[in-house]
Amino acid sequence: MLLCACTLTGYAQTQLPVYLDDTKPVEERIEDALSRMTLEEKIGMIHAQSKFSSPGVPRLGIPEFWTTDGPHGIRPEVLWDEWEQAGWTNDSCIAFPALTGLAATWNEEMSLLYGHSIGEEARYRKKDILLGPGVNIYRTPLNGRNFEYMGEDPYLASRMVVPYVKGVQSNGVAVCVKHYALNNQEFNRHTTNVILDDRALYEIYLPAFKAAVQEGDAWSIMGAYNLYKNQHACHNEYLINDILRGEWGFKGVVVSDWGGTHDTYQAIMNGLDLEFGSWTDGLASGRSNAYDNYYLAYPYLEMIRSGQVGTQELDDKIRRIMRLAYNTTMNKNRPFGSLTSTEHSEAARKIAEEGIVLLKNTGNVLPIDLTQAKTIAVIGENALKMMTVGGGSSSLKVKYEVSPFDGLKNRVGSAAEVVYARGYVGDPGGEYNGVVSGQDLNDDRSEDELIAEAVQVARQADYVIFFGGLNKSAHQDCEDSDRYGLELPYNQDRLISELAKANKNLVVVNISGNAVAMPWVNEVPAIVQGWYLGSEAGNALAHVLVGDVNPSGKLPFSFPVKLTDIGAHKVGEYPGNKLELEQSTHRGDTINETYHEGIFVGYRWLDKEKIKPLFGFGHGLSYTTFEYGKVTADKKEMDAEDTISFSVNVKNTGNRAGMEVVQLYISDLKSSLPRPVKELKGYKKISLQPGEEQTVTISVDKSALSFFDPDKHDWVAESGDFEALIGTSSTDIRSKVKFKLR
Ligand code: BGC
Repeated sequence: MLLCACTLTGYAQTQLPVYLDDTKPVEERIEDALSRMTLEEKIGMIHAQSKFSSPGVPRLGIPEFWTTDGPHGIRPEVLWDEWEQAGWTNDSCIAFPALTGLAATWNEEMSLLYGHSIGEEARYRKKDILLGPGVNIYRTPLNGRNFEYMGEDPYLASRMVVPYVKGVQSNGVAVCVKHYALNNQEFNRHTTNVILDDRALYEIYLPAFKAAVQEGDAWSIMGAYNLYKNQHACHNEYLINDILRGEWGFKGVVVSDWGGTHDTYQAIMNGLDLEFGSWTDGLASGRSNAYDNYYLAYPYLEMIRSGQVGTQELDDKIRRIMRLAYNTTMNKNRPFGSLTSTEHSEAARKIAEEGIVLLKNTGNVLPIDLTQAKTIAVIGENALKMMTVGGGSSSLKVKYEVSPFDGLKNRVGSAAEVVYARGYVGDPGGEYNGVVSGQDLNDDRSEDELIAEAVQVARQADYVIFFGGLNKSAHQDCEDSDRYGLELPYNQDRLISELAKANKNLVVVNISGNAVAMPWVNEVPAIVQGWYLGSEAGNALAHVLVGDVNPSGKLPFSFPVKLTDIGAHKVGEYPGNKLELEQSTHRGDTINETYHEGIFVGYRWLDKEKIKPLFGFGHGLSYTTFEYGKVTADKKEMDAEDTISFSVNVKNTGNRAGMEVVQLYISDLKSSLPRPVKELKGYKKISLQPGEEQTVTISVDKSALSFFDPDKHDWVAESGDFEALIGTSSTDIRSKVKFKLR
């Protein structure tokens, strides 16, 4: 066929080569494309050509792929070969709430809206692969990247990730679900070798990835930095070949995390399809193009040429990449997307509002009564600080970000005077890879001076709203480092206690993506969990604080009282085997880390040890009250093929409309292997007017009763007695009903 001589655009419809003919089945087009590529062109396709792009096949008109972070906004353009900003002026985005905030909505519609909206932004910015969402399970509150993930529970994370994936991909933009797998801390993230039993792997750490792949049909997935079974996750035989491809039937592309590839042979054999971010100084030295030195570039070519490996694996990688191309770059029907639209702002605000969690509200201090309040004192650095800049690869350049202070001031308007005092100085900086917040938050006053001023201001106000918590600086909620402890930094504990003494109407708004210790919990009447809420943060918080929005978020992870209340810290290793850490002399040494706590992560550990958390998984209050009836089951006994339905009547007994998340936990009363006291297996978010009631029905099948049997290497539901528990949180179970699996 005289292909090369013609320009492709010169073909009439009838003459189109099969790979360009979208009336032909995709698999046929893939084979046709493959048959036309040279060996060098194939090798060209499987590794990066710049920080965030990989080549297509220019001769055949197969487009490049452009990737972008992810996961809560579209990253600004960087230089071809650098992390630094390219200095474009058309690349500002809308920041959506970080994923803990999304997970806290417990609302799959919010996740779909999120995915669809961020996918539109990615598409408009001409990105083909969005590097997100992240679904690593929350094992320790010290993990610097928990804010990018969906919490501690595999069921909740699974339910919430699927609509996100579908929403993004409806734009012809691929997700890249990350970080597969076991990247549960940032400390030593490249050198930690995770050791855990198969039950923990299958029951806790893998389900959200599996759901994204099998139910969401994720087109790509990102290998993690860490090791498992002494092999890096990006080219891990067990995780990729056996589980992802073998057991789950994944047909998509495995992308390496940036710099996560370490070995050509393993990358060839163990399913890595696209290599990104390996060290290179780009075009500056070495061969004409340093990307040629990638593990999946010249070294691979050499191995083929010398006969050390064949081309079968290469063809498999190309098939996967072409499949991705037909869904994205070569999909003629994909929409054009949109950027920073009013709809995206509204979506960001709505999701933020639904994710905010009211942790405590003694004496109904909230909502702020604007008919009574003359002066509202706002205290704390986080009332002002931009949170979309920083935190690592998820850092953004936003079109705008409404701070909590501005949001509240705008909402309150002339109804009351809003005054401000700093209270504490955290990190006044605000820069990431050349994006600057432009805020000058420097303040040289001493801690005592700052507290004295704040107390003075608090005394004279009707309400005091403290905005504190963590931020996106190193050792806070930030990539590449973990937190040092559970405590709030910058002496905020002392400040909060002083404020509580100064004013009884104190509201603490904790901005973080992680649990924090609250030694002052009994001194403060109202506490709100605020997350990193993105562009609309201040508006969403203000709407909840004054009661325009009735809070309905629920915690996607437990807040322990202290660190040793967490399995990973009590019995599990963190941040690695102690002896090995002490003895290691070289930064690159592999350090083993055994998850001794096994499946007992989050509330599963707290339940088992009968430890009362500060705030439990699933907790979240409302400005109204809900009365639960008694749960009933539609049958007393079920067969393995059956489903069983549980119903409960829920009534709004307050005088405001509100939303409630009815949670179903299953308890296996007798089992051959140890099981958690209870596990979340269903939930429903409902909306009720004052006085309205509704019967909520949640159905499950035997998968909700199963555990992973390591000997059988399969899920098993054992016959016997079970209990269904209905609650408003994992620590507030309202009623139970027993049933039997025959
Ligand atoms: C992060 C990824 C990110 C990539 C590209 C890595 O350091 O771990 O989550 O997508 O960089 O920025």
